[in-house]
Amino acid sequence: MARCRLPVKRDLEGQDEWHLAEILSVKDIGEGSMLYYVHYVDFNKRLDEWVSEERLDSSKMQLPKKETKSSSHRRTESRPASPEHEIVLNGITPSDCQPVKKSSCKVTRKRKAEEDSQESSDGAPRQTGSMTVHVPEDKISRIKNINCIEVGKYRLKPWYFSPYPIELTKYDVVYLCEFCLKYVKSVTCLQRHLSKCQLKFPPGNEIYRKNNISFFEIDGRKNKTYAQNLCLLAKCFLDHKTLYYDTDPFLFYVMTESDSKGFHLVGYFSKEKESTEDYNVACILTLPPHQRKGFGKLLIEFSYALSKIEGKAGTPEKPLSDLGLLSYRSYWTYAILNILINLKSDQGQERPQITINQICEKTCIKKEDVISTLQHLNLINYYKGQYILVLSDEVIEGYKRSLAKRKMKIELRCLHWTPKDWSKRGKW
Ligand code: ACO
Ligand code: ZN
Repeated sequence: MARCRLPVKRDLEGQDEWHLAEILSVKDIGEGSMLYYVHYVDFNKRLDEWVSEERLDSSKMQLPKKETKSSSHRRTESRPASPEHEIVLNGITPSDCQPVKKSSCKVTRKRKAEEDSQESSDGAPRQTGSMTVHVPEDKISRIKNINCIEVGKYRLKPWYFSPYPIELTKYDVVYLCEFCLKYVKSVTCLQRHLSKCQLKFPPGNEIYRKNNISFFEIDGRKNKTYAQNLCLLAKCFLDHKTLYYDTDPFLFYVMTESDSKGFHLVGYFSKEKESTEDYNVACILTLPPHQRKGFGKLLIEFSYALSKIEGKAGTPEKPLSDLGLLSYRSYWTYAILNILINLKSDQGQERPQITINQICEKTCIKKEDVISTLQHLNLINYYKGQYILVLSDEVIEGYKRSLAKRKMKIELRCLHWTPKDWSKRGKW
């Protein structure tokens, strides 16, 4: 929906900057003062915030404009720029090189009609026993409801709405037991809980350990409360999709860092027990204090390690968030270049050869993601009816840099896991 726009002053660590923003909500805070909930145009929703009237420049208010859509796609047929580092790419057709289609999230799509009818009269998603809540735009859930979450030694500022019980939204801080993820309203309640809670690690099987990094597998049916609490916490940082209540069809792979006090949550991903679309990740999250340290790529690498043991290629459930896409692109680029750069020519061949399917088999990355990565890197050249991959010096240098930067890696010998055939089980 188009809304009025106006410049709003953003406070960037002491430096003010004016940005065009939309007002999503208004609240009266007494004595004639109002607060405005604003979304900065072209910025991620996580920056949305309440601002006072002084930060709005209403003299420059813009009325809603009609939206226009444009798309362009180029396919080049050119001789590779440099003959060095060329690989013949087989098993790919022109139709594979179309722009990658955006598919909508299965869980969201499947439940859309349900959700529409389950919204309560105030527009907030109703919290029923078994449903996946898609956060509707233009509704109460567009506005962050939890101010701060204390978990272990960290205080987290949520980025998005999360359907914690409404009573909790009035407190400045919500406290979580860092091991079972139970939420309470005060330090006193937390201390009471901690005096009883025995947990020092996530309630599942530890299937991986290397140094102080462990992965635990948690069944969403067997450990429903933990799984639901994890989803509520994750929703604070995941915008577009999360399941909260019907956790039965999912497994949760929780990554921890251990010390003498226990195994502390760093991040996780969820995975459907059975996926007809070959999804190997539903939702993925690194808790903000641990972000940008390589844990996201470690989680992704772990998800592909599971796919390798299962013997099939996988893909994350779409849509990806902006940060999700950055992390996946980075992982896919690294994993694919690792194969291509180490490829040797067979005897009598001028250039090494590989098929798309071989790249998929070796990496367990699904075909569409392999192609989108090759396209993104601009590696695919079409010449005289043949696809040629040209690894430029820039691409090779980028690969070497990311290799040197990588401190953590999944070691398959530290993973002790056998996939279950969920289709043979009567019930998850
Ligand atoms: N700005 C710019 N680049 C970033 C940022 C950022 N804020 N965060 C991560 N990156 C880049 C890193 O620089 C790195 O790129 P590089 O390898 O080229 O250096 C890459 O993304 C991965 O970085 P990691 O440190 O391995 O990833 P991180 O631990 O930060 O986790 C994740 C990434 C899981 C996406 C995290 O940002 C997160 O939890 N975000 C919120 C939830 C989310 O959006 N999840 C994905 C939704 S899609 C889905 O669920 C299938
Ligand atoms: Zn606990």
